[in-house]
Amino acid sequence: MYNSFPKISLQRFGKINPQSIEDYSANGGFVGLKKALSLSPESIIDSIEKSGLKGRGGAGFPVGLKQKYTSGSSAENNIRFVVCNADEGEPGTFKDRMIMETDPFLLIEGMIISAYTIQATKGFVYIRGEYYASIENIKNAIKICYEKGFLGQNICGSGYSFELDIALGAGSYLCGEELTLLESLEGKRGYPRIKPPFPAEKGLWGLPTLVNNVETFSHIPFIVEKGHEEYSKIGTEGSKGTKLFCVSGNVTNTGVYELPMGITLKELIFDIAGGMKEGFEFKGALLGGAAGTFIDSSFLDVPLAYETLKEKGATLGSGAVIIIDDKTNLKEMMISILSFFKHESCGKCVPCRIGTTLLYERIKKPQLNENDFLWMQTQASYMVKNSLCPLGQSPDLPIKTVVKFFKNDL
Ligand SMILES: Cc1cc2nc3c(=O)[nH]c(=O)nc-3n(C[C@H](O)[C@H](O)[C@H](O)COP(=O)(O)O)c2cc1C
Ligand code: SF4
Repeated sequence: MYNSFPKISLQRFGKINPQSIEDYSANGGFVGLKKALSLSPESIIDSIEKSGLKGRGGAGFPVGLKQKYTSGSSAENNIRFVVCNADEGEPGTFKDRMIMETDPFLLIEGMIISAYTIQATKGFVYIRGEYYASIENIKNAIKICYEKGFLGQNICGSGYSFELDIALGAGSYLCGEELTLLESLEGKRGYPRIKPPFPAEKGLWGLPTLVNNVETFSHIPFIVEKGHEEYSKIGTEGSKGTKLFCVSGNVTNTGVYELPMGITLKELIFDIAGGMKEGFEFKGALLGGAAGTFIDSSFLDVPLAYETLKEKGATLGSGAVIIIDDKTNLKEMMISILSFFKHESCGKCVPCRIGTTLLYERIKKPQLNENDFLWMQTQASYMVKNSLCPLGQSPDLPIKTVVKFFKNDL
């Protein structure tokens, strides 16, 4: 099932010089954009909706619907923004950099088409500050696109104009959360805003803003060029297209793999990533990063897709697949996860500021008992209900699933 499918995000991986627009154009680049500029924005949104593409940043929100909301929101002087979330802060996630390092024009093409659908005039790529190679490539690609008429006034003679700029993140996990990211882009401290309103209605400087992840934008040119029917042939009923899976842990070949949605964990580990390293046995995995879910071997045959994982109480998240072997110490892993949330909590609200510290203190207890498990789960549920932003909700899933599957390790 996973052998014959078109690659999308990594279709030019290793085949072109990422700094060369000539290489990009000679390998199918800008075909989608040129087609898009001859179509109406509404028809493109309709096609993206029909394709079934969902956001690849973690939440899996339907992309066409977000474009529809953003283009339909009333905007002062018709000003709308497009923002690419390239902060990539989720532990175990290292896929967006693959696109930016190997095919930066693809991201820009996806952003220009998306901007056209909502008639945005200005866009930003918000990149993690330590991603030096990505920053250099995107900067270079933006400069060349201006020189060649793909950015700026009257793009490709279409009458449509769009400006694109770059902004750097400063290492805060919370700044990957879309509303906090917008605060940071506005030059303010990275504190979250209360949702609603969502960015589609009130985003950057209070104006409608389309925020999508790098991988999400990289799918747009394919859908426009080949049509939504072609795109939706890939994947499962509820999860269309390909996905970048970031495989880490003690498997033979760790790395980023572009595969159709719906591949099973067994296929991913044993067929694609070469199986477990010698001397290690598969025990489980952490799916979706620190804010994700632990799973055990009963998940090996479950298709990795939004709907199938949700049915079993798990999540795909950003695509992080951290493999746990028989020698992995889950107690240490949980200490690391809860220390991470404690460190990244911005401190604005009490349930998360105090809660993350209390959870961290409790997990460090030498021997946890049933009372500790109950207390930690209750505390995490309380944080889900009372925290101001999604970061305070993040410890809930890893705590509940580690207790469910690996209680004895704690
Ligand atoms: C604490 C936190 C951190 C996040 N970090 C990222 C990130 O680094 N990159 C990303 O694309 N989305 C991140 N998200 C998700 C974004 O808020 C948002 O859902 C995403 O940018 C929307 O794009 P998409 O629909 O294309 O997935 C984060 C969310 C939370 C709550
Ligand atoms: S939930 Fe945590 S990160 Fe979010 S506002 Fe409250 S303290 Fe800050």
